[in-house]
Amino acid sequence: MDFSFLKDYSPYFINGTISTIVIAILTVFLGVIIGTILALMKISNKRIAKAIASAYIEFIRGTPLLVQISIIYYSISFPKFTILDIEMNRFIPGVIAMAINSGAYVAEIIRAGIQAVDKGQMEAARSIGFNSIQAMRYIILPQAIRNILPALGNEFVVVIKESSVLSVIGIVELMRSADIVKAAIYKPFAPLIVVAVIYFILTFTLTRVLGFAERRMRTSD
Ligand code: ARG
Repeated sequence: MDFSFLKDYSPYFINGTISTIVIAILTVFLGVIIGTILALMKISNKRIAKAIASAYIEFIRGTPLLVQISIIYYSISFPKFTILDIEMNRFIPGVIAMAINSGAYVAEIIRAGIQAVDKGQMEAARSIGFNSIQAMRYIILPQAIRNILPALGNEFVVVIKESSVLSVIGIVELMRSADIVKAAIYKPFAPLIVVAVIYFILTFTLTRVLGFAERRMRTSD
């Protein structure tokens, strides 16, 4: 296998890697905001809020990310402009689609994390005079965070990998940079291997860091 193309083409892979990381960070950040709102709607006792959140989560989880990205990109036309050479008319809908998707998964992570806290905790908090918002804020959430953070870390790993789907709408992230190099050197195999290795380094490092953080959190228990 010949990797001599790396000499000329490594900037593509570097840019692609940076893009992938930026996309993943933005997606998880926005996904957590969307997911928190949905989770709170889902555990609330307002029937309509519950129904809306459930419908959103079921629909998003029940349709392919590829289809969601395509729908958002092709049906909403964003004005063309670039920032730092990044085509925002692709980047913005791409990140929005990823965040909408991730939000549904994050919602379930947060809901499960909150509901895993023994319900005696809420009852105890209420019995010493906290209202339900205070109980949530001071008693339930601090415990729920311990269930939520590790799973959110996993979501980050998933998002890094799933962001490769954005290559179909022409966002130059890691996968797309492999496509570009493939087409330039007329050889598909080696560039794809390079990209696979980079994805692996990203996810493996992240998994290790998360494992470390999780162990620390457990010992502080
Ligand atoms: N491959 C899945 C799909 O096509 C995407 C899953 C996204 N998962 C996630 N945890 N954000 O629907």
